[in-house]
Amino acid sequence: MKIIITSKLPSQITSKLEDKYDVVMWEVENEPMPREQLFKEIEDADGLFCNVADQVDKELLDRAQKLKVISTMAVGYDNIDIEEAKKREIPVGHTPGVLTEATADLTFALLLAAGRRISEGIDVIREDKWKNWAPFFLTGQQVHGATIGIIGMGRIGLAVAKRAKGFSMDILYHNRSRNREAEQELGATYCELDELLEKADFIVLLAPSTKETYQMIGAKQFSQMKETAIFINTSRGTNVDEEALYEALKNEEIYAAGLDVYNSEPISSSHPLHELSNVTLLPHIGSATIETRMEMGKLAAENLIHGLEGKLLIHQVK
Ligand code: GLV
Ligand code: GLV
Repeated sequence: MKIIITSKLPSQITSKLEDKYDVVMWEVENEPMPREQLFKEIEDADGLFCNVADQVDKELLDRAQKLKVISTMAVGYDNIDIEEAKKREIPVGHTPGVLTEATADLTFALLLAAGRRISEGIDVIREDKWKNWAPFFLTGQQVHGATIGIIGMGRIGLAVAKRAKGFSMDILYHNRSRNREAEQELGATYCELDELLEKADFIVLLAPSTKETYQMIGAKQFSQMKETAIFINTSRGTNVDEEALYEALKNEEIYAAGLDVYNSEPISSSHPLHELSNVTLLPHIGSATIETRMEMGKLAAENLIHGLEGKLLIHQVK
């Protein structure tokens, strides 16, 4: 059987696949297989090992004659047309669980960076603008003891809440369903979105990207936040109206933002958000530790093998 791996991966992840299958892997470091090539390769492929950088849409699936499984090395699968895959009875695998803690760490890093103006501080030294210690120079917002509002209390939300508890933060959350573990073990309080937006000092968006969450945070929601509020997004950029966020930051309707994800990725230094000093921007690296990416890759490989062997995937998108 033939499988396509759309990005270069280390042998710890690929060797088991190479033993079993005919593997076509894109060999260029840090770059996905070009779409035209993917279009050609998919025609006779049995398995597709992809990631966040690939668009697995109807146009691609229409070309696939033999495809038996799609396996993405990610928890989010908004880049895959799940309905089209379902119509063709192609199972889709993803990698929840293994990236929870690394993504929560990065979320907290952004929260601290945005609250304490870390990237501005780095720039001050880089640009030789540090003249002297001054009483209110680069003062930011207090993190410990502040109120965090977590939108989306899934695995990653819960892992962020655990970190927040270590910083003596009050924890509010909003989610489709109540999370007893968060409430009983961490003292998190469930509230409606409106109340969370009004009360939280740090608002952390961790909802998946769905039709329901599309631009769920926009002008109205930013206007409900405190002027001192800090907005963090490590979920998906499409959950946010990015122009409204830009306006809210520029007009100081909110204090700062920390972002790892964008409406359209990658962004460059000419992106409007980059003009603003009160925003910390990262290039979608939530789960990017060596250990976690290895785990994600190995789990994605297992999902792929299960699919090719006609078994239920370990983590199959429903
Ligand atoms: C990355 O964003 C992922 O969904 O794993
Ligand atoms: C992802 O793993 C989540 O459920 O938050």
